Amino acid sequence: MDQNAIISKIEQLTRNLSNKNEILLETCKILQNEVAHYDWVGFYMLDETEKMLLLGPYVGKTTEHTLIPIGKGVCGQVAENKKTMIVQDVSKMENYIACSLEVQSEIVIPILKNGNFVAEIDIDSHAFAPFGNNDQHLLEKVANILSQLF
Ligand code: SME
Repeated sequence: MDQNAIISKIEQLTRNLSNKNEILLETCKILQNEVAHYDWVGFYMLDETEKMLLLGPYVGKTTEHTLIPIGKGVCGQVAENKKTMIVQDVSKMENYIACSLEVQSEIVIPILKNGNFVAEIDIDSHAFAPFGNNDQHLLEKVANILSQLF
């Protein structure tokens, strides 16, 4: 499925479903099914009072990282900097929270609402250096569509 088809499928979800977590979970499923190098796809949500990220809907292996402090790991850094981060080789990354030994690379895309960080899309890959401009472009579009849910 090409990028436009993925985008329109996700747009359809936002029109046809009313429950936020259901839309987020279905989005995870679409992304994981349609892109071969997306092995774990999930959302982390900002808990502003606790200054933490809370694990939201996801697909892939169960993770014990249900709470991540802002600033910690790739996820925590994206929450702070509000910019997409691509880590092509997680073994080279110092501020990194390992989820599973199979994971080689990761992309995290912030979801912004009126310029404020509200959540993020986190994708792990078992492939080495698989992420390119295409992924960033697709996922930033998806983040933009989903920001209306927050
Ligand atoms: N690797 C992430 C932690 C979340 S898991 O990938 C699900 C990080 O360094 O922030």
